[in-house]
Amino acid sequence: MFSKETYMSRRKGLMERVERGGLVLMLGNVEASRNYPATTYHFRQDSTFRYFFGIDLPDLVGTMDVDSGEVTLYGDDLTVDMIIWTGPQPTVKELGERVGITVTKPLSALKEQIDAAIRKGRPVHFLPPYRGDNKLRLSGLLGIKPVALPDYISVELALAVVSLRDKKSAEEIAELEKACEIGYLMHTTAMRMCRPGVVEREIAGTIEGIALMHGAGNSFTPIVSQNGETLHNHFYGNTLEAGRLLLCDAGAETVSGYSSDFTRTMPVNGKFTERQKDIYNIVLAANNRAFELSKPGMLYRDVHLEAARVIIDGLKGLGLMRGDTEEALASGAHALFMPHGLGHMIGMDVHDMEDIGEKYVGYDLETERSTKLGVSSLRMGRRLQPGMAMTVEPGIYFIPALVAKWRNEGLNKEFIDFDAVEKYFGFGGVRLEDVLLITETGNRMLGVRRIPITVEEIEAFMAG
Ligand code: GLY
Ligand code: MN
Repeated sequence: MFSKETYMSRRKGLMERVERGGLVLMLGNVEASRNYPATTYHFRQDSTFRYFFGIDLPDLVGTMDVDSGEVTLYGDDLTVDMIIWTGPQPTVKELGERVGITVTKPLSALKEQIDAAIRKGRPVHFLPPYRGDNKLRLSGLLGIKPVALPDYISVELALAVVSLRDKKSAEEIAELEKACEIGYLMHTTAMRMCRPGVVEREIAGTIEGIALMHGAGNSFTPIVSQNGETLHNHFYGNTLEAGRLLLCDAGAETVSGYSSDFTRTMPVNGKFTERQKDIYNIVLAANNRAFELSKPGMLYRDVHLEAARVIIDGLKGLGLMRGDTEEALASGAHALFMPHGLGHMIGMDVHDMEDIGEKYVGYDLETERSTKLGVSSLRMGRRLQPGMAMTVEPGIYFIPALVAKWRNEGLNKEFIDFDAVEKYFGFGGVRLEDVLLITETGNRMLGVRRIPITVEEIEAFMAG
């Protein structure tokens, strides 16, 4: 938790940005049951609630009266019966004091404040809820059916929250650096463990343990797979085989709630084949190119397109693509090999603020998300500003089902040699992901030390 002044200043900044006035309603998360009510998942606070109210405990709600400036924290003190199970916890009044809030009330008083605002015709601003419990709570408070809630979310609040959370302060950057260091430990451990005969699960379980040893756990479900062409592969049952590649995409969340997200791809037996090296080095060149280009004022969509250019040129060099690079790029032919975007914002969420809506987070009035093949999967296309943190994660994959579909449809056949591509079935995929922070003059990579990334570094590390 940061100092109470941080949360007070964030709330003040938010209220200044909500020009229409009214009441801001922010729900913290409640415990989520796993298989029966008393067994819950590890508690995860809502990131926006935590950003403005700082408290990492369930069943709290905050309001900000934009017109009077009054902030209220709603929650119930624990009864002795509850303390038997949870141990003593601070009172809601004490929690409020820690984050600079003097008005605290029981949850039963919340509806009264909402009803009074609605009666007076004042706007009640809320963000899109993503959990069932909070949809029901909002629905009950506002008298709006759960399915209709998306029609009533406050765009003004969404934009105001994004305009604060999208630029990371020095204390937030320090937390992101910590998350990156845990990521370093996770990935270098995966590299040390990777060898023929090891089951993917052994690595996935070990690195999750590292994330928990040093922080709050994984920032998302890790991808540890020999079938790296399946982008979000959460199956860990394969036994690693010599000659294959292992793709490891994992990151940690710090105790204070900040994330990292890295991907490395390594040869199972510690030595890349020539064919693996060729593909690997194209992806590495695309990753490096993104760092060369990213700076304030640049559209991240243009950085994505430049990374795609590097991939097209590289694949042309290997005879997998052909034709004019600009024409191939314009028709989205590279999406056969990289069907995802170059990266996403990162912060308290691994895909930062994705719950608020990409339209407001990764795009804006200037840059709408395109529906065009080759850029349609890009989550972040906006103009870069100092303080923004995002991932750089180009990749090349050989996805048999996608290749078969394009081949059958004749899609981009002028730019792709399908016969040559089919020879790569079974290759898997390569993705290389780092975290980038935009500075006043350019960018820097987050993390005190870079996870080994060149062919030579990875081979030397795995040999050691
Ligand atoms: N690291 C997983 C993702 O970015 O979707
Ligand atoms: Mn990522």
